[in-house]
Amino acid sequence: MSVTQEIKDRLDIVDFVSGYLPLRKSGRNYAGFCPFHQNTRTPSFYVFPETQTWRCFGACAEGGDIFSFVMKKEGWDFKEALQNLAQRAGVTLDTGQGVDKAKQAAAQKLADLLGAAADYFHMLLLHAPEATYARQYVGERALAEETLDTFRVGFALPSWDACRNHFNDQGYDDADLIAVGLLTVNEEKQRRYDRFRNRLMIPIRDVNGRVVGFGARTLDKDGLPKYLNSPQTALFDKSSLLYGLDTAKRHIREARQVVIVEGYMDVMQGWQHGYRNLVAQMGTALTEPQLQALKRYTKRFVLALDADAAGAKATLRGLQVARQSLDHELEARFDAPNLVRYESRLQADIHVVTLPEGNDPDKLIRTNPAQWPELLAQSQPVVAYVIEVLTRGLDMGDAKAKTAVAQQVIPLIKDIQDPVERDHYWQQLGHALQIDERALRQVRLDTKPPAPRPSAPSTSSFMPPEPDTPWPEGTQIKPVIVRPSTKPSREENFLYQCLVDPQLGVRVNQLLQQMGQTAVSANDFPTIEDKLLWQSLTAGLVVADRDLCDSLDDPVLLRRVEALKKASSHSQANLARLPDTPDKLALSVLQWRLEAIKRQSQEIKQLVHSAAQQAEPELLRLHQQQANTLTAAKRDIDKAIASMSALNRRRTEERDH
Ligand code: UTP
Ligand code: MN
Repeated sequence: MSVTQEIKDRLDIVDFVSGYLPLRKSGRNYAGFCPFHQNTRTPSFYVFPETQTWRCFGACAEGGDIFSFVMKKEGWDFKEALQNLAQRAGVTLDTGQGVDKAKQAAAQKLADLLGAAADYFHMLLLHAPEATYARQYVGERALAEETLDTFRVGFALPSWDACRNHFNDQGYDDADLIAVGLLTVNEEKQRRYDRFRNRLMIPIRDVNGRVVGFGARTLDKDGLPKYLNSPQTALFDKSSLLYGLDTAKRHIREARQVVIVEGYMDVMQGWQHGYRNLVAQMGTALTEPQLQALKRYTKRFVLALDADAAGAKATLRGLQVARQSLDHELEARFDAPNLVRYESRLQADIHVVTLPEGNDPDKLIRTNPAQWPELLAQSQPVVAYVIEVLTRGLDMGDAKAKTAVAQQVIPLIKDIQDPVERDHYWQQLGHALQIDERALRQVRLDTKPPAPRPSAPSTSSFMPPEPDTPWPEGTQIKPVIVRPSTKPSREENFLYQCLVDPQLGVRVNQLLQQMGQTAVSANDFPTIEDKLLWQSLTAGLVVADRDLCDSLDDPVLLRRVEALKKASSHSQANLARLPDTPDKLALSVLQWRLEAIKRQSQEIKQLVHSAAQQAEPELLRLHQQQANTLTAAKRDIDKAIASMSALNRRRTEERDH
């Protein structure tokens, strides 16, 4: 339970507010003169014991919990309110400096250890007598000293305990070494030994240049695995990291495009030849967090992956995610004022290039550097690339094979928002398959076309099969639908999405205003944490999810963000489609407002009822008037919901034709 909830459970809001103004029982609730605006004739301020909330139905038209009440009344900030109410409720705040400071120090120690380890391995590569072969190896791979220095390439001694002893001597204990993945524990034999032995050490750094893990290449010709990576830890999450982003980000901005390659060596070799806008996805499928990280620097992605079969598969896996991630933007195009801007942006979103047979970027750049830019210039837009790959060598006499290809490509085409572009690809597909385009348009899809933007692993028919099965094979993957067990509320989802991408909030507000509705305000959120988070967000204090820890110094709010994140990722893991585009979010804001109005109408109904019972005609008239106001507000929201839904429907239809 959150500390604010604990406090609310212990303090009765009626008692508490009574300390500030006289409250009179009115049915199940309590009424008083609003302390926040001139209000002397009829009470407009109500406290609802059932929900432990308050609301002014008069000029303020505002409400909240005990926290927002005391903050408004005393002019306290959240911290002061928290301290005062905690004391009054007898709740101890474990958020006191002690715990967090200790945690911070521990995290810092591990970060320092990783940095120190990178330096240690680097020094060994340069100077250790045992590193003779390693030095020869990097020479053979044509890595210059400056490159080795920039990427802090190193060497791990062929020893079971050299690294452990070195860092034990420096004051790091085994637990630290295990935590960062330098030391491995064999539970059975109860032995601890260095994870990396006789390997070329490549530090993997986060976007800010902090070492978070290692990729370690074997120096034996057939050593396995070829690259041994740090184990997955909280610090090292390969699925959200991109190798080389820290050094490349500046160049990505300058070049206005990022080239995504597969491996460490590709990035380093590119760098050495002045091609510095390269990042590596480290052999795995490109993930959404990775693309989100890149989107901060450019919207133009070129996937340049190895030509071998594995490379082709990885390309297609990469594409799948890239498309999902950018569909977000695709949808936003219909945000009328932004339409033009997004359109031009989208013209160059994801391009793909296949390397000549037997090459990877490392080899190609090393042997023929001038060919690299030429190759990139030949990159193709996603759909064109997919059509080409799927129809390459296709037997035009095999009707079934042609259908299978059509089944894979059509959902992609249907997903394209621009009609000219879409038409272009209908034609291109028809041409490639030697089929009349009109017939193609009538192909019934085996499975539903992919949703505009699945927020979880896609169920689209374009998803390649298991990584190890040969591809292409034209079979359909059945969507797996798992019901979510817990789902964030609309408010929670909206808030979380905006924390991750503050621009979303701006666009939603534009849409709301177009629908004649007010922009989202703190008042829309029921709890104090969410009100404050929204305020920090709109004040520009929260830049993005990644930076939250830096920008939010309040542990209670940070914990709330964690909870939101958990609820959201839980839903996503269960394939629940949470609204996540401006128009869907705008609709969900309207729906939650509608729910809030309905709740308030219930409250007013209670007030009308008790005023009637107590035979207070003036109060009765007032409450009836308030009820009418709410009814009008409800009508407005209904209308806005109808036009927002119509807009969304139109967009879906346009997409499907
Ligand atoms: P590659 O096998 O293409 O390696 O895997 P590479 O980068 O070309 O390496 P060299 O040129 O043979 O030295 C591409 C990437 O996949 C990851 C690494 O990030 C590698 O750079 N990978 C590969 C692993 O993590 N583990 C492996 O065993 C193999
Ligand atoms: Mn290679």
